[in-house]
Amino acid sequence: MAACSRTLLQVGNLFADILLFTTTVTMRLSSFLTKLALWGRTALLMGGVLLLTGCKFNFWQMDGHQTTMVTSGPVAKSQLEVFYVTCWVTLIIFLIVGAVLAYATIKFKARNSADEHAEPPAQSHGNPMIELSLIGLSVLALVFIAVPTLKAIWFTYDPPEEQKANVYEIAATGYQWWFKFSYPAEQIDGVGSLTTANELVIPAGRPVRISLRTVDVIHSFWVPKLAGKVDMIPNRGNHLWLQADEPGYFWGQCAEFCGESHAVMRFRVIALNEQDFAEWVAREKQPARTVNAAELASAEKPQIEFAAFKRNAYGFSDKWNAKADVSPLDNWKQQQFPAKQESAPLIAEGRELFLNKTCAGCHTVRGHDGLGITGPDLTHIGSRTTIAAGLLENNPEQLARWLAHPDQVKPGNKMYETGYIPNNIQLSNEEVTALVAYLGSLK
Ligand code: CUA
Repeated sequence: MAACSRTLLQVGNLFADILLFTTTVTMRLSSFLTKLALWGRTALLMGGVLLLTGCKFNFWQMDGHQTTMVTSGPVAKSQLEVFYVTCWVTLIIFLIVGAVLAYATIKFKARNSADEHAEPPAQSHGNPMIELSLIGLSVLALVFIAVPTLKAIWFTYDPPEEQKANVYEIAATGYQWWFKFSYPAEQIDGVGSLTTANELVIPAGRPVRISLRTVDVIHSFWVPKLAGKVDMIPNRGNHLWLQADEPGYFWGQCAEFCGESHAVMRFRVIALNEQDFAEWVAREKQPARTVNAAELASAEKPQIEFAAFKRNAYGFSDKWNAKADVSPLDNWKQQQFPAKQESAPLIAEGRELFLNKTCAGCHTVRGHDGLGITGPDLTHIGSRTTIAAGLLENNPEQLARWLAHPDQVKPGNKMYETGYIPNNIQLSNEEVTALVAYLGSLK
């Protein structure tokens, strides 16, 4: 890849040199040489384009996790269509203007010293017919763009009338720097609606209407392959709708600058088929899973590698290379079940620490200790594929990293600023290991 870019750069430099050289030379040589140079430049340009196509840049494939060029639902598709219409119209205008410019440059260029010093021709006001037709063409181009744009605005605002009865409602709330998702249709007695964080699980093939709120500053909700982006504005209700055509795992991102950790305010959307979704809701409604020693033979104390991560060093969630041959969706499905090796005494120790280290004051773990609503609901955190708002992969190493150095993973985060610092919370490696075991058991 690097070698490829370097070669391209060299070809580019060579191309610029030749262009400069040929331009200087052709000004002094006969028209035969001018033609020869032109052919030479064209050949070089073609060669450059060929080289580019051979390089297989991801940029040209445009199939990244957060691409808008590959869509998986009707809302994103209609947005992409507007983009293409605008692109084609502007490309045609560019070609026409470029062609006229090139024609004028070549036809009227100075060919000898007399031309260079000639008086400019007499200036006239212009041709009314040409001016009027240009205005007409511009209006036409705008109308050509406006019609599909207005249609798309109408379509993306709310699910189509005939599908209204089938709409699934979810509420999303932005926090510095994570997302809370509530399911008003899924009530839990005495607790209110089902609530989760940073991983939005939706039914596939069904329109989902998401109401958007924020508790602090402006955030923006964006799932490039499904829909986006719509702002979450303080003191104002907003909404969007989206639909995933097939079950899948999608990357989302806050798309409005909202403070120092805006760039790492991410989330995931997991679309499941009807049955999987119903099963997920049923599991999620359950209180936190309790692991007791009687059920489990006490396993070996797990060894976590406390790696020395650099400040802001990324986890692996954006590369997704950890379990190479498993798709992100299958990986999510595997994450729903308890790990094979669990240590009941260690988990009990972690649960104790969760209370003593004041974690319970900000986080809810339904059925265990913890009623806080400042931070994400952790009742089923073990079944999520990511932690720290979609930034890190949810595995023991990354969870340990997050608990031990939250300020380094997500600078300015509230857990550190209003939890760790005032309470003087410090965690030894043993304590982190126990907390990791406890949180990991919350499936
Ligand atoms: Cu929230 Cu940017």
